[in-house]
Amino acid sequence: REKNWQEYCSIYNQYVQFYHDEILKNESLTIAREYLKKRNLSKDEVKNFKIGFVERNSNFYEKLKDEFSEKVLVESGLFYLDEKKNTYVERFRDRIIFPINNISGQPIGLGGRTIQENSYSAKYINSPETPFFKKGSNLYNLDLARRLSNKIDHVYLVEGYMDVVGLSKNGIENVVANLGTSLTDRQILMLNQFFEDIIICFDGDESGYKAALRAAENSIKELQPEKQISFLFLPDGEDPDSYANKNGKANFIDFTKQAKISIHQFIFNHYKQQTDNNPSSMAIFEKKLRTIAATIKDDFIKKYVLEFFLEKISSLTPHSNIGKKQFYTKKVKSLQSTQ
Ligand code: CTP
Ligand code: MN
Ligand code: MN
Ligand code: MN
Ligand code: MN
Repeated sequence: REKNWQEYCSIYNQYVQFYHDEILKNESLTIAREYLKKRNLSKDEVKNFKIGFVERNSNFYEKLKDEFSEKVLVESGLFYLDEKKNTYVERFRDRIIFPINNISGQPIGLGGRTIQENSYSAKYINSPETPFFKKGSNLYNLDLARRLSNKIDHVYLVEGYMDVVGLSKNGIENVVANLGTSLTDRQILMLNQFFEDIIICFDGDESGYKAALRAAENSIKELQPEKQISFLFLPDGEDPDSYANKNGKANFIDFTKQAKISIHQFIFNHYKQQTDNNPSSMAIFEKKLRTIAATIKDDFIKKYVLEFFLEKISSLTPHSNIGKKQFYTKKVKSLQSTQ
C-alpha cells in the first residue's frame, strides 16, 4: 500500500506538471489561453494553482505506461478504457484542469472544466473516488489557505474552483471549496483546526441557497465553543468569483462585515419565513428548531442555541411572519432582519 501511494503521487505529480507546462509553454493552445483570459485569469493564477490544460487528442497514458502498471494507472482515475478502440484514454480531454491537493500540497485528484460554451458534456468533472482520494475528506485549496491561519481567523467556504481562484486573484486567499458535494462533518472539523470562523458563501441562486441550508443544518451539530460558522448570501445571480471581479477586495470585505449572519440566526430566520401566525404552524416551527438544537454535540452550545431560538420565538410579534414560498432575492432580504 505504501508503494501504491508512492506511485499514485508520482503519477499525479507528472501529470499535473506536464499539463501545467503545456498551458504555459505550448504556443498552439490558443483556445485554452483565450478561455483563461476571458475568465480573467493571468499567468499568476495559473502558476499559483498549477492550472493545466489537456488537449483533445492528448494521451499521457502512453508516456506513463512503461513506468507504471496498468492497474495503478487506472486506479489513478486519470484514464479509462475506451472499449471501442480498446485503448486507454484521458478522462479530462479538452478541459482546464485544477489539481486538488491534500493538506500537504500533494495533488491527489483533479477537477476539469470544459472550455466549450455550449458543450453537451458536463461543465465540470472530478476525479472519481480512488483509494487515495475521498471527496468528503478534502477541500480544494486548504493546503494554501491554511498557511494564512496564523494571521487570519476566518476562512471562506465556496462552491467552486473558479470561486477560489477568482477571490484569490482579488486578494482574498483564505478560501476553500468543497468539491461539488455536500459539506461533511470532517470538512467542518478540518477547517476548525485552522480557523475560528467558517464563512459559508455559496452562489446567489436557489441551489446555492438550498446547499447553504443543508450545510447549516448539518454543520451546526459540530459547532464548538470559541468557533463560529457564518453565512454570506450574495446578490441574486452572483457567485464569489463574479462578485469579487466586479466589486473588488475592499467591497467584498465590507460586504462580509455588513451582511454575514450566524448559523443560528440563519436557521431561525429561514424557518420563520416558512411559518404562518397560527398555532399549528407555530408548533411546527418550534418543534423544528428544538429538533435542530438537539443535534448539537457540545452541551453548552446546545443550551445557548436552544435559548436563542426560544427567546426569539417568544418575542415574535403577531405580524412578524413573512409568508411562504419566496424567491431567492426576497428570501435573502428577509434573512437580514434580526427580528
Ligand atoms: N460542479 C460539479 N459538476 C457540475 C457542476 C458543478 O462538480 N456538473 C461543482 C464544481 O466543483 C464547480 C462547483 O460545483 O466548481 C460550482 O458549480 P457552478 O456554480 O455551476 O460552477 P462555477 O464554479 O461557478 O463555474 P464557472 O464559473 O466556471 O461556470
Ligand atoms: Mn474575522
Ligand atoms: Mn452554482
Ligand atoms: Mn462561476
Ligand atoms: Mn458558481
